[in-house]
Amino acid sequence: MVEIALPKNSRVEQGTTHQAPPGAKRVKRFKVYRWEPDSGRKPRLDTFEIDLDACGPMVLDALIKIKAEQDSSLTFRRSCREGVCGSCAMNIDGGNTLACTLAIEDIAGDVLIYPLPHMYVIKDLVSDFSQFWAQYESIQPWLQTESPPPEREQRQDPGDRAKLDGLWECILCACCSTSCPSYWWNSDRFLGPAVLLQAYRWLADSRDDNTGERLDQLEDPFRLYRCHTIMNCTNTCPKGLNPARAIANIRKLMVERDA
Ligand code: SF4
Ligand code: SF4
Ligand code: FES
Repeated sequence: MVEIALPKNSRVEQGTTHQAPPGAKRVKRFKVYRWEPDSGRKPRLDTFEIDLDACGPMVLDALIKIKAEQDSSLTFRRSCREGVCGSCAMNIDGGNTLACTLAIEDIAGDVLIYPLPHMYVIKDLVSDFSQFWAQYESIQPWLQTESPPPEREQRQDPGDRAKLDGLWECILCACCSTSCPSYWWNSDRFLGPAVLLQAYRWLADSRDDNTGERLDQLEDPFRLYRCHTIMNCTNTCPKGLNPARAIANIRKLMVERDA
């Protein structure tokens, strides 16, 4: 019989509990994944009790409070605090989302916080985005034109500009890619929904002249066609975007040019 062993460090141990201050009336428990791969210790789940009467409304507010008052070694990324930079993407209450735009009161019971799934962990809630950025770079995410640049801006009529709506808003948080089963198993070769949405953003831009080469670059059994339309990406996007539709649109462009 085949024996399947769990990968090393996949078991998460019970960690330390940090209690709420005496007299706290509205206590919420945050269970946070902690791991420092170089430490030689196993991952653990620490519990932090927070007095909601002394905390901001969002999950990121709680993490900042924990770091400031209970454990300064807790490590996570954040910058804008308003859903614009994409830094605070993590897995909260079982779904990938932005800690700064998720209200604590929208979570029933204890708040479970893990790093984005299926990415290497650098420390605690900080995932290694190296491969994700390399894939983004591979689609050449900049305007490419054959004509010399105009003296002033590249003009675009309002109808063509509207074709970029639903694409330009992507903040590259990777919530979608890290919720995609195809990306979990083939992240070295499948570009994943975030990068493919970005690829379509340039294919859909009326000012870009490099459509043919962009499609050539995507025409591959893995880079584009590992999407099996499972829709996790669209269901999870904290900006309400639809990467699955962008991928379908790229496929449509492939079919149209081969017709
Ligand atoms: S499509 Fe949505 S989930 Fe995916 S990277 Fe962009 S903003 Fe994040
Ligand atoms: S629709 Fe495609 S890209 Fe989106 S989650 Fe499913 S397989 Fe992944
Ligand atoms: S801190 Fe910028 S998106 Fe959350």
